[in-house]
Amino acid sequence: MNNIKDYENLNQKKILLRLDLNVPLNNGVITDETRIDKILPIINFLIKKNSKIIVISHVGRPKGKINYDLSLKPICENLEKKINQKIHLINNDIFKLKKDDLFKDPNDQIIFLENIRFYEEEEKNDYSFAKHLAGLADLYVNDAFSCSHRFHASVNKITEFLPSFAGLQLETEINALKKITSEIKKPITCIIGGSKISTKIGIIENLLPKFDNIVIVGGMANNIIRFKGNQIGKSIKEENCEKIIKEIFENSKKYSCKITFPDDVLVGKNFNDKSKIKGLNEIEYDDLILDIGPKTINKIKNIIENSKTILWNGPAGYFENSNFANGSYEIAKSIINKNKNKSIYSVVGGGDTIAFINKINGMKNFDFVSTAGGAFLEYLEGKELPGIKALD
Ligand code: 3PG
Repeated sequence: MNNIKDYENLNQKKILLRLDLNVPLNNGVITDETRIDKILPIINFLIKKNSKIIVISHVGRPKGKINYDLSLKPICENLEKKINQKIHLINNDIFKLKKDDLFKDPNDQIIFLENIRFYEEEEKNDYSFAKHLAGLADLYVNDAFSCSHRFHASVNKITEFLPSFAGLQLETEINALKKITSEIKKPITCIIGGSKISTKIGIIENLLPKFDNIVIVGGMANNIIRFKGNQIGKSIKEENCEKIIKEIFENSKKYSCKITFPDDVLVGKNFNDKSKIKGLNEIEYDDLILDIGPKTINKIKNIIENSKTILWNGPAGYFENSNFANGSYEIAKSIINKNKNKSIYSVVGGGDTIAFINKINGMKNFDFVSTAGGAFLEYLEGKELPGIKALD
């Protein structure tokens, strides 16, 4: 894999730079800037080299349709302030853009294309779309490790049409994860939560042989609670997961990996509600499960206490409402305490998990913080990520 930092002359070269600026937004306001801060090194590097930068990113999952709630505009404005340089956001239909239309103003050094997932061709890894995108630039750089697990046009197919390079953050993330996976100390615990159930549930099965404990919390746990015969009310869930959950429990015995899931939960009637502790058999048809309960927290703390390595991906609850932040907070606190006396190696990953850790000012208390969620887990599975393989 070639890194762009080793490329000899980037002066005036047009670089198609794939970033993951998928930051949490609340009514157009960025609630966590970590993913923007992490890409400052590559932006500053290319500015210094006098390159012309065309940024591509997605935000959210607009499913191939234009949705201005998921515009890159606030992110573009945020980055403008951080680097003190004007950035031109191009709203025009990408298919109508030509290489010579870009950077007509010699003062333009960075332009943003609008959310790449407004085009259905992106997620289809479409050949013509990738070829057209490639036609806008001289070189391609992937500095988006956190979406390199996606077979998408601007991550994978594009590399067939341009000389392609790894970016600075992508290399940092891969090197850190390589080190972690080769030097990992047992007992290893992986805590998986968050709301992207479909992305993560299939991964768990492949992680069983590698870990001593898998702790399932957050939206991920709702399917297990339901599988065990309980009502989960209006809580988020994934359909048709029974087979995979059955296999997870069967294979956990085979690989001596203990699966831990909630014994009790915190529910509300809506996302802004107060919290109420409930046992699994007390959940009502109009309840939303929004956090783990105190018994579950104790169980998890005990597991953390007895672990030498901890990998945490996905919050335990809907922490955006502080009434449901306690599960994530207690998990973070236990890891941080053990980290302080160096009795655990801790890695935390994923957009929402980072947002939470930032909220409690804990970024410096983990050994490694990855911007990646799904990509981080797929890397741990030992899978070759399509975005990385394409660079190789
Ligand atoms: C992430 O937040 O993990 C990445 O931006 C990928 O997003 P996705 O799960 O919607 O592909």
